[in-house]
Amino acid sequence: MSDPTEQEPTEISRDNPLLAGQTASLQPQPCSFVIFGGAGDLSRRKLLAGLYNLAVDGVLPANFCVIGFARTTLDDEKYRELARESIETFSRRPIQEPYWTDFVRRLHWVSGPFNEPDAYASLRDRLEELEPNFGIPCNRIFYLSIAPSLIEVSLENLKSAGLISDPADTSRFSRIIVEKPIGQDLESAQSINATLSKVCDESQIYRIDHYLGKETVQNILAMRFANAIFEPLWNQKYIDHVQITVAEEVGVGTRGNYYEEAGALRDMVQNHILQLLCLTAMEPPWSLKDEVVRDHKQEVLNCLRPIQPHEVDDHVVRAQYGPGYVRGADVPGYRREANVAPDSSTETFIALKCYIDNWRWAGVPFYLRTGKCMAKRASEIAVTFKAVPHVLFNVDPAVALEPNVLVLRIQPDEGLSLRIASKLPGSKMQIYPVKMDFSYGSTFGSQSPEAYERLMLDVMAGDATLFMRRDAVETSWSWVMNVLDSWQSSGARWLPEYRAGTWGPVEADRLIEGDGRKWRTL
Ligand SMILES: NC(=O)c1ccc[n+]([C@@H]2O[C@H](COP(=O)([O-])OP(=O)(O)OC[C@H]3O[C@@H](n4cnc5c(N)ncnc54)[C@H](OP(=O)(O)O)[C@@H]3O)[C@@H](O)[C@H]2O)c1
Repeated sequence: MSDPTEQEPTEISRDNPLLAGQTASLQPQPCSFVIFGGAGDLSRRKLLAGLYNLAVDGVLPANFCVIGFARTTLDDEKYRELARESIETFSRRPIQEPYWTDFVRRLHWVSGPFNEPDAYASLRDRLEELEPNFGIPCNRIFYLSIAPSLIEVSLENLKSAGLISDPADTSRFSRIIVEKPIGQDLESAQSINATLSKVCDESQIYRIDHYLGKETVQNILAMRFANAIFEPLWNQKYIDHVQITVAEEVGVGTRGNYYEEAGALRDMVQNHILQLLCLTAMEPPWSLKDEVVRDHKQEVLNCLRPIQPHEVDDHVVRAQYGPGYVRGADVPGYRREANVAPDSSTETFIALKCYIDNWRWAGVPFYLRTGKCMAKRASEIAVTFKAVPHVLFNVDPAVALEPNVLVLRIQPDEGLSLRIASKLPGSKMQIYPVKMDFSYGSTFGSQSPEAYERLMLDVMAGDATLFMRRDAVETSWSWVMNVLDSWQSSGARWLPEYRAGTWGPVEADRLIEGDGRKWRTL
C-alpha cells in the first residue's frame, strides 16, 4: 500500500486520513445577514460574490437570508439582478444552477437613509417577516460596509430600534462587522471604539482586516506550530532579522481622495503589516480560542519598541512615486494623479526598522516596507537566519555563504520556500544556495477561498480570532502615532521620490544597508 504522505494531494476530501486530529472549526449558525451599503462597491465586489461562493461550497447555514440596506430605492427583484451582475463580474466561480436558485431566494432589499429612525423600523419589520420563513431565531449580523462617519448614527439607530440584543441572551445574537479604516489616528480610533462600546459589547464586535483572512496569513500559525522543526529556531539566538514586504504594482487610481488622507503608514502598516508582524513574532498560544490567540498577538504589540522622535529619521523612510512605468504602462507620478494635491506630502512608500523588546526577539531587527507603483505585486515574510560559524565552508569573509532564509509568500504564488546551502555537483567542494519550495497552487490545486469568504463565515460561527480587538487597534495606532506626530512636526512638504515601477528610493536601501544587510530581491 502506498504511503498517503507521499501522494501529492489535489483535492482533499473531509475524510482524508491526513486530516485526522485536526481541530474542529466552529459551525456557522442560522442568521440574517444585513449589509449596510448593500449595493456599494465593497458589497458588489466582495460580499455578494463571497456569500455566493460560500453557498456553492455548501457551508452557509441552511437557515440564512441576506438583506441589503441603503438609501437607493430598490426592491428584492432589482437587488437580485444587481447581485447576479456583481457575482457574474467578480465571483471566483460562475453562476451555476441550482446553487443560484437557492441563493437568490434568500436576497432581499430595504431602502432607507442610515440617519433616519423610520428606516430601522422598516428593517426590523422586514427581519421579523423573513426570519420565521427561513427558520432563523433572531440571530442578526450587521455588516457596516459604510463610511466611518456613518457608523455612530447607524449603531445608535440600530440600538434604538431594539435590533441589538443583550450579549447575555444566549437564545439569539447580534454581531456587528466594522470595516477599515478604524480611525485616522489614535484619537479617532478611540472615538469609533467608544461609540461601538456604547452600543454593543466587545464580544459582539468584529473589526475586519481582510488581510487576516488570507489562507497564507493563516498558514503562518500552521507553519510555526504544526511543525516541529521551525519553533526551536524561532528566536534571537538563530534569527538574524526579519523582512516583511507588501508591495503593490497599482498606484492610487481613483482613490486619490482617500489616499491623500491616509498614506502608506496608515493604510498598510498600522493594520495589515503589524498584524503580520504579530503572527510572525507571537509566543505559542495555548489554545486556538479567539481570545487566547488575540491575547498572544497583543503581547507583541505591547513589546514593540516605540520609535522616539529623534530616531524617526534614522529608522523610517517615506517617499512618493514619481513618473515611471509599471508593466510597460506610463504612470504619471503621485502628485499628478486625480484628486491628489500638486504639493501633496502623503507618502506612497514607507520602509522602517523596528524591534520587539522581549526575551525571544531582543536585538533582532524587523524591517518593514510597503509601497504603491512598485516593481512587482508581492507580499512576503522573510526570516533570515544567522550565518554558520566561520569554519569549514564559511571561512572566507570575501565570499560569505548565503544565510538560510525561510520565506512565507502571501501573494501571489502563495507558498513557502527555504534557502539552503548545497554542494555543487563536481569534483570540488563548492557550495551553492538552492531553494526548497512549496506552492499552494501546485500542491492543493483548487482555488483558495477569498479572504472575505472565510471572515464572513467566521462571524456566522462567532469566531473572532481573525478580527481586530479594541486593544490591538489602539496599541497599533499608539505605536504609529510616534512616527506620524514626528512627521507632522517636521512640516516637510517634499518627500524623496522613487521612479514608479521600482523598489523604492535609495534612502530605503541605505536604511538596511547601514546595518550590513540588504532588501531581498522579489
Ligand atoms: N471598496 C473596497 O474595496 C473597500 C475595501 C476595504 C474597505 N472598504 C471600506 O468599506 C466601506 C464601504 O466602502 P465602499 O467602497 O463599498 O463604499 P461605497 O461604494 O460608497 O458604498 C457605501 C454605500 O453606503 C450607502 N450610503 C452612503 N450614505 C448613506 C446614507 N446616509 N444612508 C444610507 N445609505 C448610505 C451608499 O448607498 P446609496 O447610494 O444607496 O446611498 C453606498 O452605496 C468603507 O468604510 C470603506 O473604507 C472598502
